[in-house]
Amino acid sequence: MTKGRLLIVDDEPDMLENCTRILGKAGYECLTVSDPLKAVSLLESERPDLLLTDLRMPGVDGLGLLRQAHQVDPHMPVIILTAFASIESAVEAVKEGAFDYVPKPFSVDQLKLAVDRALAQRRLAVENVRLREQLRGTYGFENIIGRSPAMAQVFELVRKAARSEANILIVGESGTGKELVANAIHVNSPRAAEAFVPVDCASLPEQLLESELFGHEKGAFTGAVRTKPGLIEVAHRGTLFLDEIGELPVGLQVKMLRALQERQIRRVGGTRQIDVDVRLVSATNRDLRDLVVKGQFREELYYRVNVIPIVLPPLRERKGDVKLLAHTFLKKYAQGREVPLEGFEPEAIQILENYSWPGNVRELQNVIERACVLAEGETISARDLPAHLSAPPATAGGAPVPALTSKNLPLKEAKAQWMTQLEATYLAELLRRHDGNVSQAAKAAGIDRKTFHRLINKYGIRQTGVSR
Ligand SMILES: Nc1ncnc2c1ncn2[C@@H]1O[C@H](COP(=O)(O)OP(=O)(O)OP(=O)(O)O)[C@@H](O)[C@H]1O
Ligand SMILES: [Mg+2]
Repeated sequence: MTKGRLLIVDDEPDMLENCTRILGKAGYECLTVSDPLKAVSLLESERPDLLLTDLRMPGVDGLGLLRQAHQVDPHMPVIILTAFASIESAVEAVKEGAFDYVPKPFSVDQLKLAVDRALAQRRLAVENVRLREQLRGTYGFENIIGRSPAMAQVFELVRKAARSEANILIVGESGTGKELVANAIHVNSPRAAEAFVPVDCASLPEQLLESELFGHEKGAFTGAVRTKPGLIEVAHRGTLFLDEIGELPVGLQVKMLRALQERQIRRVGGTRQIDVDVRLVSATNRDLRDLVVKGQFREELYYRVNVIPIVLPPLRERKGDVKLLAHTFLKKYAQGREVPLEGFEPEAIQILENYSWPGNVRELQNVIERACVLAEGETISARDLPAHLSAPPATAGGAPVPALTSKNLPLKEAKAQWMTQLEATYLAELLRRHDGNVSQAAKAAGIDRKTFHRLINKYGIRQTGVSR
């Protein structure tokens, strides 16, 4: 491992050579470029730890480069190299956010010292952000509501796991808060000041996902008009969150495994190995072990990602949390109403507590949001809750026609009810046929995954094939 990656920009090749010799010997990895215009794209594709740049150059000058660097990474230290005659402009650059300037000609120590100091300062800044987060006492847990014993156990585990560098697998039904927990892990980890990069493995076809994750070189395939670093690179020193990891295509599982083992990646169409240091947090609502048995998930990868498993209990197993969550969501969604909402009528709470919440916290959140819109008085009553919460769940196939068994509804309303039931039955059956795999079921239905999720939550359809 090097002490850091530096990008050095100067239109004089001698100067580049000189700097590389000094800083290379001091243990830094040096990328050099004499064309400042090329430097701009290198800033993006290489994400160096520090930029060392000449001030006066044809094309873009040092100041312009400084601004570009800070767009890519606001904390990137920039050191300006400058001829003695233009010290004033160097001072100007420092005012604009450069860390320091080094007048030419410089001594070996002068240059080394400036770079060492800048990188030490960056480390301090990173550490400070982390300490501030801790002092705030938030631990990133303030968003995760729950006092049930089941959740207390989860909190305890998350706190411990976050401090380690171990890869974590979060398992739970849809809507149990997997993404929320992944976030909390990052915020509580030593990597808090670096990037948290979520990737939804189910959202893209294999080829696109590959270039999203691993990046690509310019011209690697049609449409690759410029070099793009992958999200794994973007997560360097931070946390990579692989959501729905069970959906990762087998080819990419192999590539991912290699990246984790070698701590290096190669961009699509590239030849160079790039060092990456990422902490991996993954999430799934499927039974990965079952996928391993079926040969759909690589066993070695399973062991790599599942060093610490965190199992999120379904909401129906979190005694007492429904009420707590309902009140939290009420506060959130009642804001800005003309008539303030004070709480729930006892009957409404009863209904909420008796319901099985197949869509878990997300479903509860949606129900409360809707109720806050519908409620006319100062409290939420049973009337403001969807009817299916108090009714026994609809049976698939052969269910009586609701419009005829209850009141005599006008045709239009009866049709609407019927269509609703038909839709729910259709979605439930499709999901069952695809073994609880939402992505596949959504594909078969010809709608996107998000919409499918929204619909099954709306109808309270439970996913099967969920591991617990
Ligand atoms: N314990 C909790 N406290 C407060 N809000 C929560 C809690 N758990 C989940 N939520 C909220 O519920 C919604 C769903 O949570 P999240 O996206 O983390 O679930 P998920 O397990 O990733 O679901 P999916 O498998 O569908 O992706 C989010 O809006 C989240 O903020
Ligand atoms: Mg999620």
